[in-house]
Amino acid sequence: MEHAPTIDLSPAFGGSISDREEVAMQIDSACRSTGFFVAIGHGVEKTLLENVMSASREFFHLPIAEKIKVAPPGPNHFRGYLGLDTTALASTLEIETPPDLCESFNVSRFDDPLTRSKVQQPGAEAVFCENMWPEKPNNLRKAYEAYFAQMENLCSKILELMTIALELPENWFDDKFEEPTSLLMANWYPPVAGEVPSGQLRRGEHTDYGAFTIVAPEQIPGLQISVDNKWVDVGLVENGYVINIGDLLARWTNDRWTSTLHRVVLPDESHYRERDRISIPFFFQPTYTAEIETIPTTLEENNKSSYDPVVSGEWITAKSMSMLE
Ligand SMILES: [Fe+2]
Repeated sequence: MEHAPTIDLSPAFGGSISDREEVAMQIDSACRSTGFFVAIGHGVEKTLLENVMSASREFFHLPIAEKIKVAPPGPNHFRGYLGLDTTALASTLEIETPPDLCESFNVSRFDDPLTRSKVQQPGAEAVFCENMWPEKPNNLRKAYEAYFAQMENLCSKILELMTIALELPENWFDDKFEEPTSLLMANWYPPVAGEVPSGQLRRGEHTDYGAFTIVAPEQIPGLQISVDNKWVDVGLVENGYVINIGDLLARWTNDRWTSTLHRVVLPDESHYRERDRISIPFFFQPTYTAEIETIPTTLEENNKSSYDPVVSGEWITAKSMSMLE
């Protein structure tokens, strides 16, 4: 069995109803299994990703004194640069590990003060805070904004296919994703020479929190998923975006779909360890106030759900705060 099957999305875009249903079925089957698949035929312009990659690499290669100019100014400000030794994703599962060998930078879509003032919620400063744009490189902001828009577009197309897969009315998700609280993040894994402390990874084991995550294609190994309590490599697919279901969508679908534990390890091969690696995940997340109540078509026969309703933003925020050390 393939643990992260490759799915060609192109027949679903502009194809017939049966083409869309066929792709939706493949997505359903992958989501019921590990919740991981690799999308090709996604239509994302390669140059947009290349621009984000090169601007990110240029940023992470700056001296730390420059990077911390865009570090979060306070505990309720989860935007901008997080340096080495600040995060351990395994702590979201209450597992004690050395800090992840990773620096990161993230932005949300709530950049414009007017938009922010319309959507922000009391007590949710960490979600609706302003972005921290660095001065250098000066093309980073433009590259991120263009790529963010492209990711939002791809997410709505995938959500349409998921709506078909879940046998829901066409617009069922619309009001739940009216003002998505999605995040675009760049993770930078610096080159590693020599040994690292036992248990130290590039990204510790965790599940993602939101609806689903789209990770840009990379040609460096390291991503592993947990299948029957064994770590399995996710294969590299040229121009293939890795897509995985997050906890919220698993909960929403009453566990019909799976949010699988994953991690990023240091590859054994020295030529991979000794060069840096950048990964660009896009976390697709519902409107802050969206009520996440079991999707009716995924209820069990007795109409019972394993989960009580939760408010999307409150639930995701509680989980994401636990990663900060
Ligand atoms: Fe993840």
